[in-house]
Amino acid sequence: MSAEFTRRIFSGIQPTDHMHLGNYLGAVRNWVGLQGDEFETIYCVVDLHALTANQSPEGLRAAIRELVATLLACGIDDKRSILFAQSHVPAHSELAWLLSCVARMGWLKRMTQFKEKAGKKQDAAVHGLFAYPVLMAADILLYKGTHVPVGEDQKQHLELTRETAGSFNHTYGREVFPLPEPLILGAATRVMSLRDGSSKMSKSDPSDYSRINLTDDADTIALKIRKAKTDPEPLPERLEELDGRPEALNLVTIYAALDKAEPAEILQRYAGAPFSTFKPALAELAVETLSPITAETKRLLGDQAHIDAVLADGAARAGAIAGPILAEVQEIMGLVRL
Ligand code: AMP
Ligand code: TRP
Repeated sequence: MSAEFTRRIFSGIQPTDHMHLGNYLGAVRNWVGLQGDEFETIYCVVDLHALTANQSPEGLRAAIRELVATLLACGIDDKRSILFAQSHVPAHSELAWLLSCVARMGWLKRMTQFKEKAGKKQDAAVHGLFAYPVLMAADILLYKGTHVPVGEDQKQHLELTRETAGSFNHTYGREVFPLPEPLILGAATRVMSLRDGSSKMSKSDPSDYSRINLTDDADTIALKIRKAKTDPEPLPERLEELDGRPEALNLVTIYAALDKAEPAEILQRYAGAPFSTFKPALAELAVETLSPITAETKRLLGDQAHIDAVLADGAARAGAIAGPILAEVQEIMGLVRL
């Protein structure tokens, strides 16, 4: 590619219920680590995406502020990064429409997340759930984002973003958008449910025991890990021996990610240990990592004015980048700009 693009990270997270360990290990901890001189970093609370899930208006409003507090508590620095809410920069919705006139039905119909979320009743699903990946493409391309740190589950959406950007560039005969690269980093790119090693840890699982929330206190974390589904075998020496033991593999992967180690190293440490030994050690490590975040989130939530000020500042800075890019796209597509 010949065009020069600023190295710019963009990523988003939905304010639905509480943030969980999968979000933290798969995405947000990497967001924190990517802040620095190498990239400009933009992080977005995607409240418009959250409207595709059932949530009460008051619940959504509370979840938006709680998520901002949690992100700050995790180490997102609102001075070094731009941290803002999607709906505060209306250009996201505008670009989403423009890109819906580029992205093909066939691409959207392939999206597995839509199929999973809509289930058997696709006709009853809201249109926003189907169009969700176009809004996500707009989020990223509105900033000409070049790198997108996400968990494994977002790979397909990123592919659609690249296809949309490529198609736009091709149609209009110039390199307007970069083709953004996914950054899928760390040991735990797909954290599984604590109750079922074949489904991912998710905010929408009806059982709260399936996930560890960043708002859980130490006792709750320990209880959830104690109750996590496992099998009767002790831990093996080698990773390959965890084949066919998804729950055991998940707990070892979580341990490794929390410890910033490789799963194989953890097995060497715990080879032969029963879960009655491993689970308390994992609980201790999880509590040690998460309780400072929980405490800081609580403290920040006591000062709503500060959270709102962070959002206002983030929206102004994001809007200043987004405005000219939206205008460029409108112009290229043939709209009359006054
Ligand atoms: P969401 O809660 O769907 O908005 O997801 C926010 C970020 O967390 C995205 O980058 C997801 O890929 C990531 N994520 C969500 N669930 C998991 C999981 N179970 N394991 C790893 N990453 C996850
Ligand atoms: N779709 C993402 C998820 O469910 C959230 C998201 C929305 C996002 N817009 C984004 C992630 C832009 C990365 C970049 O997790």
